[in-house]
Amino acid sequence: MTILIKNGLIVTSTSSYIADVYVEDGKIKAIGTNLNYSAKTVVDAKGKYVLPGAIDPHTHLAMPFMGTHAQDDYETGTIAAACGGVTSLIDFDIQQKGESIKQALERKKSWAHDKVAIDYSLHPAITDPRPEVIEEIKDAILEYGTPSFKIFMVYDFRVNDATMIKLLEETKKYGGLVQVHAENVHMIDHLNKEFEKAGTMTPYFHAKSRPNIAEEEAVFRASKMVEMTGSKIYIVHLSSKEGLSKVKEAREKGINVFAETCPQYLILDEERYKEQGFNGAKYVMSPPLRTKESNQALWEGINRGDIQILATDHCPFDIKGKKDMNGTDDYKKIPNGAPGIETLLMLMHSEGVVKGKITLEKMVDLLSTATAKMFGLADKGEIVVGKDADIVIFDPEQKFTITQEKLHMNVDYTPYEGIEITGMPVEVYSRGEKVAQWQNDHVEFIGKKGHGRFVKRVALTHF
Ligand code: URP
Ligand code: ZN
Ligand code: ZN
Repeated sequence: MTILIKNGLIVTSTSSYIADVYVEDGKIKAIGTNLNYSAKTVVDAKGKYVLPGAIDPHTHLAMPFMGTHAQDDYETGTIAAACGGVTSLIDFDIQQKGESIKQALERKKSWAHDKVAIDYSLHPAITDPRPEVIEEIKDAILEYGTPSFKIFMVYDFRVNDATMIKLLEETKKYGGLVQVHAENVHMIDHLNKEFEKAGTMTPYFHAKSRPNIAEEEAVFRASKMVEMTGSKIYIVHLSSKEGLSKVKEAREKGINVFAETCPQYLILDEERYKEQGFNGAKYVMSPPLRTKESNQALWEGINRGDIQILATDHCPFDIKGKKDMNGTDDYKKIPNGAPGIETLLMLMHSEGVVKGKITLEKMVDLLSTATAKMFGLADKGEIVVGKDADIVIFDPEQKFTITQEKLHMNVDYTPYEGIEITGMPVEVYSRGEKVAQWQNDHVEFIGKKGHGRFVKRVALTHF
């Protein structure tokens, strides 16, 4: 399969320039002006951007959670990803009690196997830190190709501080990275009891029960463990101005704290919890939506370099049937999570680049180049010779009004319903295979399930 993409604006994390891209056997083989290759497919990309496919390093496909499971599986989730211009994802693989890391990986790979439509990797999430599991960290980094490990400071499957320290020390030895969901569980438990006593249990109180200070304290505690061990850590779904201030403080001292945020924490705010009836449950996720002040602080954190990565935390549950499956009178019983994988790139371009909050090059860095580097996806994340031909032809003028009806995620709502978008992916390639295409008024999947591959990642010794 050969493709010649002509005259597009190639966007890298540092610059943009007009050139042709030649693709052969799924790889970028040449870049230059007036390339003289005869190709099976020629794409006229004049007036379009040629972007590296976005990489979403935070998804929960089919994850069992809060008495149910996240609704997108590897088929529907990766089809939706492709339609949104996401060409790779790294999914969380939550270790079940008694499992080894290898068993957990094999279990999740078997769910993906013949369903997955784009390339993927896995982050083992350590929930049962037996001594032999800690010992297995070395193999996970050096053999299994999964050098990043998620831990939770909240939920029933959280680990304690002693385990965090052990994991930081073990990952440091071999080039691994600990990722942490940082919220103080005791503060949250205390507030849950207070609200229960007061009888204030609507979705709005989900946000009030998980205040900014709970994130701030947990980020601070985690960063002190990093300082003590000389290791590094990655804060997932950073949501608050206060949490960010602790990331900044640590980084200013030279402590290796990295951070990710998500579109929901940049664009939406806690007013959403006041939507009529039970609709506030659509936004019940942890950490919760914050105020506009935090939205603004996070954009600033991105531009200062304190936040390096954008991800979705894609974890969808229907508003009818799932969010309300345990009743509507206790926010604690609402499955936590929201859909987002398909809207990542369009939102970051339209709300970020078009509105002047970030540059186009910064967007590419946050969604592709920095992500590939952070997580060791050696063949992904850039339009350069030798990398996989994971390419999005992006029309910066194409309008689209976000509506669930035109999206592919297996869920009955989008948190972004009605948002007017400027700029959409019009062709999406995964290793040189076209997997999605703009058709009339939306993007349609034209790839094959099973095309995606498990990608072994490299040890993270390069930063
Ligand atoms: O509410 C969320 N974020 N659900 C998914 C699990 C997690 O904490 O990332
Ligand atoms: Zn989390
Ligand atoms: Zn998550």
